[in-house]
Amino acid sequence: MKTINVGLIGFGTIGAGVAKILSDNQGIIQKRLGATVRLAKIADLDIETDRGVQIEDGVLTTSVDDIIDNPEIDIVIELIGGYEPARAFILKALNNGKHVVTANKALLAKHGDELFGVVDEKRLSIGFEASIGGAIPIIRSIREAFVANRIQSIEGIVNGTANYILSKMSDENCDFDVALKEAQEKGFAEADPTFDIEGIDSAHKITVLARLAYGASVKCEDVSISGITNITAEDIECAREFGYRIKLLAISKCDGESIDIRVHPAMIPSDHPMANVNGVLNAIRVCDDMMDENILVGHGAGALPTGSAVVGDVIEIARNIISNAQDRVPASSFQNSEIKPIPLKDISTIESEYFLRFNIQDKPGVLSKISGVLGNHGISIESMIQRERGEKGDAVSLVMMCHRSSEKNIQNALKEIEQLDMVCGKSNLIRVEK
Ligand code: HSE
Repeated sequence: MKTINVGLIGFGTIGAGVAKILSDNQGIIQKRLGATVRLAKIADLDIETDRGVQIEDGVLTTSVDDIIDNPEIDIVIELIGGYEPARAFILKALNNGKHVVTANKALLAKHGDELFGVVDEKRLSIGFEASIGGAIPIIRSIREAFVANRIQSIEGIVNGTANYILSKMSDENCDFDVALKEAQEKGFAEADPTFDIEGIDSAHKITVLARLAYGASVKCEDVSISGITNITAEDIECAREFGYRIKLLAISKCDGESIDIRVHPAMIPSDHPMANVNGVLNAIRVCDDMMDENILVGHGAGALPTGSAVVGDVIEIARNIISNAQDRVPASSFQNSEIKPIPLKDISTIESEYFLRFNIQDKPGVLSKISGVLGNHGISIESMIQRERGEKGDAVSLVMMCHRSSEKNIQNALKEIEQLDMVCGKSNLIRVEK
C-alpha cells in the first residue's frame, strides 16, 4: 500500500487534533483512500508538553526545515497561524514542490493573491477548508458542489467566540464582560480576544469566501467591520421584544458589478434558521441562481472538528497524488487568471432597516425632537420602546425600529441627534438583515 508522508508545523490544539485523527482513524482512512497517510514529522518549539496523543520516536522536531526541506514529505500542514513566519514557511514548502494544507484565514485574507499565484504557477494544491467554519465543508461546497452556480450572496455566523458570547448574553441576560470572561474560562475565547470580538476574524473569513464565491480579489482592510463590544444586554432584550436575535454576521452580496461586504452585529428574525444557531456553532448561508439558498451549520472551532477539516484536505490531496492529477480543482474555485478586483460598495450606500438605541433624559419634548430629526432625514419609525424610569435624573433608553432607509441618512440623523442636549453619549445602531 502506498504511503503519503505528511509534515505538521505547529503542535497546538488543532495540531494535536490532527495527530489524534490520523492515529485513531488510520484504519478507515486506509479503507477509503487505498493508501496510508503517515505523520512523518511534527515541528514545534515545544516538543516536551504531553498533548495526549501517542507520537512515535523521531517524529517530533524543533526544526521546520526537517519538514520543508525533507524530500520524503509530500504534504505540509501549517497550523501556527499569523502572518510571519507562516507565510515564509508556506512559500518555501511550495517552492520545494510540496502541497500545503492550512487553517490560516488571516494569512489567506492578506496574502491570498501571492499564495494562490504560487500554487497555480507550481501546479500544486493548497487546502484551507479548516480556515472557515471549522468542520463545515463550505469551501468544498463552493469549489465543487455549487461549481455551476452564480453565487449572489454568502453570509453567516463565522466566529464561534462572538456567537458564544452573544448567546450567553441572550440566555442569561448578562453583560458583555461577564460573557467574555466565562468564554475565556471555558477555553472558547483567546486570552487576547480582539480579533474575535472586534469582527476582524470574521472579516478575514468573508474576504476568503468572496474570492471563492465571486472570483474577487478583495483587500481585507477594505471590508467595513464593527464588532460586538458595544452590544448590551438591553439591546438583546429589546431585540427579543421586537422579535429578533442579535448575531455577529459576515455579509457579502454581489450584483455582478460590485460587492457589498461587511461585518457587524445584525438583528435577524427569531424564526430565521440562523437565529437559533447558538453557542460556538457557526452557520453559513449561500444564495445562488440555481438552488435558491443553502445553509450549512456545524462546529466552527475545536481540535477535532477543525482537525477533521485539515485531514479531509490532506486526503483530497493524497487522492490527487495517487491518481497523478494536478490542480484538478482550482484553489480559489475560479481559474487563477479569472480572479479580479471587483469594486466594493461603500457602506454609506447600502439600505437597511435599523434598530436605534438612545440614552436620553426623560423630559417632555425629547421624543418629538428625536423623531423630528429622523423625519427630516426621511426616516420613518416602525415601533418604539422606552425603558422604565430609573432613579430621578437617570438617563433612560429609548429604542426604535426604523423602516428601510439609506445608511447615509441614518448616519447623518444620528450625528444630529447626538448633539441634542437631552441625549447623553453615543447612540447604538444595529442593522436588520432579513
Ligand atoms: N477564533 C475562531 C472562532 C476559531 O472563535 O470562531 C477559528 O476560526
